[in-house]
Amino acid sequence: MKAWFIGDFSVRGEGDLSLLDSPFAPGDIVIGNYEGVVNEVSKFEKNKVYLGQGLNSLTLAKRVGVTHFGVANNHVHDYGERAFESLVNALKASGFEVVGFRDKSGSHSSVTFRTAAGREVEVFFVVEAETGAVTDLVSQDGVRCCDAESEELLGALAKNRKHGVTSVVYVHWGETNYRYPSWKMRRLANEYVLRGARYVVGHHAHVVQGCEKKGSSDVFYSLGNFIFDEYASRKGVLRLPDENRDSLVIGVDFDQNSVELVRAVYDPVRREIRFSRDVGFLFRLYSYPLRFDSKGYSVFIRFYFAFRLAKRAVYWLHPARIRQVGPRQFGALSAMLIKLIGRNK
Ligand SMILES: [Fe+2]
Repeated sequence: MKAWFIGDFSVRGEGDLSLLDSPFAPGDIVIGNYEGVVNEVSKFEKNKVYLGQGLNSLTLAKRVGVTHFGVANNHVHDYGERAFESLVNALKASGFEVVGFRDKSGSHSSVTFRTAAGREVEVFFVVEAETGAVTDLVSQDGVRCCDAESEELLGALAKNRKHGVTSVVYVHWGETNYRYPSWKMRRLANEYVLRGARYVVGHHAHVVQGCEKKGSSDVFYSLGNFIFDEYASRKGVLRLPDENRDSLVIGVDFDQNSVELVRAVYDPVRREIRFSRDVGFLFRLYSYPLRFDSKGYSVFIRFYFAFRLAKRAVYWLHPARIRQVGPRQFGALSAMLIKLIGRNK
């Protein structure tokens, strides 16, 4: 039995899906992040993207082989708490394990299972509040997502290490469309590993980021989008470029202590996902800077942020777009500027 981790899952397209060379076998655990609520449309209103998925998403997730869905992300509150509760109920009714939230019945932040050799594994589903998620660190009233920076999580990791339980942190974090993790992501990953996490598996960036080894632990910063259909945005219906359709899938055999990397490419027109064992040159390229020492990475990431900032500024300075520039764009650009000149922490 293997546990597979896939990236962001957000389905709006109709029709069936073909899986070409799927690595998932019956009895495997397949863990994904369900982004948006079920049975709502996706829309762009008041400067914000609201993500809904059709009921078809539940059928397709079954077809893929998903067994567990994390709901700790920044889009499950888009339509309010009622819709979040409906999502949890709909996923449960379809037979998925739903994890990463706290409601009046308590915290459902993790799932535990035993491997064939009897090893106990616990997977934690959490989200960084900076992504815009509504987490239980701010308020525990109503239904909330489990927070990536809570003492509760760090304590649970330390406890597991003491009792010989293998921990995985499946975390929604970082900045969208960035190819390299920020200092904060690396600091958090360090914290998880120091407390005892064997694997850290990230998502939310919507593109694949690199991986690094920290001691005997593996950190995968972003798996990218497993399936992410077009959605309504400021620019109308957004057809995502190729880089947002390319993802990494990780298969962990906890008994053998081995990891298998698989590339998954989603084609929304042919409605198929093509899996391959060749994760590609780009993945190695994105992993390479993570080998630099902290000073080297600090210099590298400043250049990268500066490049991103310049690219965004040029994009908005175009005569066709300059009239649309408002508080949201200034907010995003100043957030990037703060990252660029901010302290390395
Ligand atoms: Fe997200």
